[in-house]
Amino acid sequence: MAEFDRFAGDYRQKLDRCVDVSGEDSEYFSRYKARYVAQILGKGCRGTLLDFGCGVGVLAALLKQELPGCRLDGYDVSAASVREVPGALVAAGTFTSDLAGLSGRYDAVVLSNVMHHVAPEHRGDVMARLCDRLAPGGKLFVFEHNPANPVTRLVVSRCEFDRDAVLLRAAEGVAWVRAVGLRVLRRDYIVFFPGPLAWLRAIEPWLAWCPAGAQYVVVGQRDA
Ligand SMILES: C[S@@+](CC[C@H](N)C(=O)[O-])C[C@H]1O[C@@H](n2cnc3c(N)ncnc32)[C@H](O)[C@@H]1O
Repeated sequence: MAEFDRFAGDYRQKLDRCVDVSGEDSEYFSRYKARYVAQILGKGCRGTLLDFGCGVGVLAALLKQELPGCRLDGYDVSAASVREVPGALVAAGTFTSDLAGLSGRYDAVVLSNVMHHVAPEHRGDVMARLCDRLAPGGKLFVFEHNPANPVTRLVVSRCEFDRDAVLLRAAEGVAWVRAVGLRVLRRDYIVFFPGPLAWLRAIEPWLAWCPAGAQYVVVGQRDA
């Protein structure tokens, strides 16, 4: 039984409780990531995407909204989580806990808050397997919690399903992307201002260099 099988039934409610200190719900964070991916790939993208570690499909649903022309597949080790993925997504793509069911050539792979659940000694394998599934020129998006942000560490410490979490600093995220032979296109810190300071969010794109963000993303690209 995979660790997240235990949380599949009420994953979203549990996550909402963990992040409520930010003044937002979990959808805010997922939509932020979906928009980031769509901005890089272009709204008109018609490629194939893999949401690796898709869980119950919260981010996948928003990726599909932001990138309606793309084919979207999802994979998670937790079969119980995959069973909770919304029917509309399952009807339009492959959502599975069996790696053999996936395509070998994705234009983009999104890994959102997954790596901190993978034991450090297995991270290289996971990254290498994902890199192999990228089409030439394909992009890998690695979103992670930023351990340099104290509010992030507080949220993680309160979160029942983060008990096994070993957070990675942004430099480590960059190093993993490089280690599998991808070119690092970006390393952006994201999600700076909590709900009560939402009026400041318009400046967040200019703060991508600043290690105060609650999360970060590393974008790598396979050679064409
Ligand atoms: C915190 S949840 C994130 C879910 C989703 N990506 C999101 O951003 O909402 C972490 C997910 O990673 C999955 N996971 C952990 N280790 C994994 C691995 N080695 N391969 C695939 N998925 C994994 C867990 O089962 C869980 O669903």
